[in-house]
Order: sequence, then structure tokens, then C-alpha cells
Amino acid sequence: MTEHASTEAPPPYPSALRLAGRRVVVVGGGQVAQRRVPALLAAGADVVVVSPEVTPAIEGLVGGGEVTWVPRGFEAADLDESWYVVAATDVPEVNAAVSTAAEERRVFCVRADDAAEASAWTPAVGRHAGVTVAVVSNREPRRSAVIRDQVIEGLRDGRLPVRPHEKTPGVVLVGGGPGDPELATVAARRALSEADVVVADRLAPRELLSELAHDVELVDVAKLPRGRSAAQEEINRVIVERAREGKRVVRFKGGDNFVFGRGYEEVQACAEAGVPCTVVPGLTSAISVPALAGIPVTHRGVAHEFTVISGHLPPDHPESLVEWDSVARMRGTVVLLMAVQNLPAIARRLVSAGRPATTPLAVVTDGSMPTQRTLWSTLELVEEDLVRDPVRPPAIVVIGEVVSVANPARYS
Ligand SMILES: C[S@@+](CC[C@H](N)C(=O)[O-])C[C@H]1O[C@@H](n2cnc3c(N)ncnc32)[C@H](O)[C@@H]1O
Repeated sequence: MTEHASTEAPPPYPSALRLAGRRVVVVGGGQVAQRRVPALLAAGADVVVVSPEVTPAIEGLVGGGEVTWVPRGFEAADLDESWYVVAATDVPEVNAAVSTAAEERRVFCVRADDAAEASAWTPAVGRHAGVTVAVVSNREPRRSAVIRDQVIEGLRDGRLPVRPHEKTPGVVLVGGGPGDPELATVAARRALSEADVVVADRLAPRELLSELAHDVELVDVAKLPRGRSAAQEEINRVIVERAREGKRVVRFKGGDNFVFGRGYEEVQACAEAGVPCTVVPGLTSAISVPALAGIPVTHRGVAHEFTVISGHLPPDHPESLVEWDSVARMRGTVVLLMAVQNLPAIARRLVSAGRPATTPLAVVTDGSMPTQRTLWSTLELVEEDLVRDPVRPPAIVVIGEVVSVANPARYS
């Protein structure tokens, strides 16, 4: 996309350079060079940085063998054999000398300081679903970036309905994060934009479903037969059946597929049926919801481990697989999912097995939603606090000293 105001100069001619294995010289080793070099490396270019000094990030790339560094001032011969040049110093005279030397060698040159004098411009670039979007405006980089962002956003959310040319049938298990659509990954959005069928959980970010094209079949798991096993069998049946019909199926759920998400049962069902299945990991609520409430699950000098436990069964339940006495002896952070109902029993058990009764505890409900809130308590007080101030699922419980790190005033 090229946009330019009326100007005497003719517009630039857009072209996509294929730089793999070709020498590209970047003159300058500061912030501008640091921003340009990764994209050149991603294009496979043989990048040479000429500069007496470079930033630590570029030095890291040199140390890793990805970039060649010529640690001195610019000399015209540096551009010999090069295909493309970036003049990125903060000294206009040096950039002008680079530009002149490039011109003499018939090599295109970008200038960080003076686009009007340059023979090439760097567009604002974005990528989605194998498409590269490059926007050049009339030397207005911020405007280009805004337009680029809008095009990419439109591609991601389906407002610009660019369907991939070849859609392979199969199942994609997509973890959607804790609920806020902003916290779904780019890969999750892409998978949704490519789906023929979406099988969605109650805790999946539902706002993203309103962006699906009208011809996409939406199967709401909350409406499937009751009972955990029956529902799961039905989900397995639906995803396998639709994939066998040649459709691309997204199994869309909250958090991460494999953290109490029964995702691997779906992987197994697909494998048994010979249906291709891929996985898009999601941001699990176990870590992201505490973070959104300002609680780190680890903190230097405070917690060297965190343990994520399902609290859907009380401690003495015959089917429980959790060694609660061992958990009570650990000093680190305990994160409980699905534990609202059994929290008083779990707290009592942790205290009776040795965890101090004063251990701080936080219950974060509706993480990432407008209704998000946090109940600050302790192991010994949580039962009373829940009577006074009941909470409803979904909630994450965080137990350990990290809670007082997050809210020192409450626990002083
Ligand atoms: C069946 S588990 C699924 C967990 C999910 N796979 C993950 O990685 O986040 C459901 C539990 O996750 C937790 N949960 C998920 N989303 C949440 C949110 N937005 N706020 C608080 N808790 C959440 C709650 O403990 C809820 O009962």
C-alpha cells in the first residue's frame, strides 16, 4: 500500500527485496540500527554493521554469530559487493557520505536522518497469515504505522476477510487466555479466522466469537449434554466428525489447553480417528490471573517454586491425586484452580499439616474481566472471610508470601 500527498517528486516504486544470503551494510550501531537489524536478519540477509561502537543488543547478535561487526568509522569500500545499505548514524555528514558511496555503486540506500535524500524508504511492516503488509506514506512514518496497524488488525479480527488459499481439514486446539480478547495470542486469532467450525467453552474469550464470519458453525459446549464425561465424549465426537467432513475445526477454550483443560483427551481422540490435530498454547489463568491482580507467582528471595493444583476435590476425597501434606510442607506459592467450593477444607488441611495459619492468601475472581476483584485473606481467616464476602467461580486462589509482597499494607 502506498500513499503520498501531492508532491513534485514521483511516488516510490514498491518492491519486495529478497535478501537471503545477500550482503546488507548497516552504518551505525545505535538505536536505529538496532531496530532495523532484526528484520534484515529475519529476511536472511548477511548483515554487516559498520560502527566504532554498538548497543549491547547488537553486540549480542555479533557474539551469537548472526551479524558481522566492523568496529571502526565508515569507509566507502565497505559498500563493495553490497545489495542494500542502511545509513543509520546520528551524524548527518556520515549518512550523506554513505548515501553518496551507495549512489556511486548503484546500491539502494535508506537514510535514517533525511528520507528526502535517500534512494529507498523503509515501509511500516506487519505480517499476518503469511501476508506481509508494507505501508509507505509521504515521509510520515507515524501515519504509515497507524495504517499498517489498522490493516493488520482487520486481517486478524476478520474485518478484512482474507481467507487462506489452502485450508487443510483437521482440528486446532486453541487456548484463548483468561478471557480478555486482548490476551488471546496472534496465533489464536489466526486460527479462529481460518475456522469452518468453532467448538467453544464457557470460559473461552467469547467476544472473539462475535468476530467470526457468519458462515462459521459455532458449537457452544455449554449447551451439550450435562455431566463432565458425557460432554467430553460429545466434544470429541463433534470435532472428529466435522474434521472428517473436510472442515477446519477450532476447539476453543479458556487459558491453556493442557492446564486442567482436558485438551490431551482431544489430542488422543483425534489420533485414534486419524484426524490431524495441532495445538495453539494459551496464556493460562494460573499465572496470568494472579499477574493481573498484581501478584507475582515467584519473587526473588520469597518463593523459589510455585505449584498449580486443582481444588475440585476436597483433600480427603478418595479420588484426589494430591498429596496435601506434602504441599503443606512446601514454602513456595500454591495456586489453586476450581477451588472456590473446597477452599475452607483445603485451607484447614494445609494448616493442620504444617503451613503457618497466618500465610497470606488471595482469591481473584473474573480475572481480566471488567468484574475482576481480589479478596485478600489468610489461611486461618479465609473461611470467615468467604462467609462475609462470598466469591463465585471462576476464581484463582494464590497462597504464599508473594501475596503479602503484592499487598504489604494488608499484611503488615
Ligand atoms: C477447567 S479449569 C480450566 C483452566 C484453563 N485451562 C487455564 O489454563 O486457565 C477452570 C478454572 O480455571 C480458573 N479460571 C479460568 N479463567 C479464569 C479467570 N478469568 N479468572 C479466574 N479464574 C479463572 C478457575 O479456577 C476455573 O475454575
